[in-house]
Amino acid sequence: MMDSRFSNSDTESLEDYKFSFESYLDYSARIEIDQSNPWTNKLLDTVSVTESIYEFHKENGRTYHAYRAGSYYYPNDLLEVERLDSQYDILKIIMDGRSYLSPWSQENPPHRVLDIATGSGCWPIDMGDEFPESQIIGTDLSPIQNDLVPPNVQFIIDDATDEWPNGNEWCNFDYIHTRATFGCWADMLDQVIRPAFERLRPGGWMESQELMGLLECDDETVTDTNAFKRWCDDIVDVSESVDRPLPLAANLKKWYIEAGFTDVHEKVYKIPVNGWPKVPRLKRLGQLWHANIDNGLQAFSYALLHRVKGMTKEEIEVSFTLPPKETRLRMSRYHW
Ligand SMILES: C[S@@+](CC[C@H](N)C(=O)[O-])C[C@H]1O[C@@H](n2cnc3c(N)ncnc32)[C@H](O)[C@@H]1O
Repeated sequence: MMDSRFSNSDTESLEDYKFSFESYLDYSARIEIDQSNPWTNKLLDTVSVTESIYEFHKENGRTYHAYRAGSYYYPNDLLEVERLDSQYDILKIIMDGRSYLSPWSQENPPHRVLDIATGSGCWPIDMGDEFPESQIIGTDLSPIQNDLVPPNVQFIIDDATDEWPNGNEWCNFDYIHTRATFGCWADMLDQVIRPAFERLRPGGWMESQELMGLLECDDETVTDTNAFKRWCDDIVDVSESVDRPLPLAANLKKWYIEAGFTDVHEKVYKIPVNGWPKVPRLKRLGQLWHANIDNGLQAFSYALLHRVKGMTKEEIEVSFTLPPKETRLRMSRYHW
């Protein structure tokens, strides 16, 4: 580090400069540890208190939700929570740092907000910070939400495919939100969008930020023989066979209109799956998305291929040895 007292010297040589190597960071200081335990936080639940929502189903080294066990096929362990958190960060980059596209602002805040299938709860937490006067509820099958939450955020264990709870808390919402809920619903229109329409106040907004769940390519660089494409198509087929189809985003606009919403907008983003784009921002996005998919291959495959196709853990692992390699090859210009 250069001592600024000597920095205005007229001399062109460095000989009058005084250098020191003092560190401006105290490396002996410890980084604070997040002591919260996502499995022990206090949650409200709409399910019977005698039912243990924490007795997670264990399968092939992963854990799955206990409440309504078997209805959702992705794990709920820390590995998956961390993947969801990084997915959240990436989606936020795509949306230029915004949590929503609906017309909310500090002058026009949503007072009562509901996030269906909230996962680790990043979205309600961000919304709670941005709108400290709003009341935000996040629901999920799994008690995996962070317990460091703003005071205006509450998590509830609930199956959104049940009839939605009654009571003042469950009506007159200003804003209902879903994100990345592909694979959660047999019928998103009847199970989520119509009930949401009923529970919004007149003039309220619903917003779904959903992933296509399909691998696509704008040119001929991804053929049907591509291992990653075959893996994706296979997972989609199996999800459809168990009536929890992954592709839903393409129907959202139609479903919103069918449910009675007016002033419906659709914005489509392409997410590159590796670093093939030339534009640096998209290249970085693709690299991050690739890492997220790579981390999620087990989570996406295990329960579906084991429960539906009867494949063993070893067989499943062999089935995705090729896809990660192919996703790394930038000549395959995939996007989601
Ligand atoms: C892929 S995660 C997405 C979570 C979160 N919305 C996000 O963007 O990170 C899907 C979540 O939906 C939850 N889920 C699945 N089926 C559900 C249901 N019937 N009712 C409520 N939550 C459900 C799962 O437990 C999981 O946490």
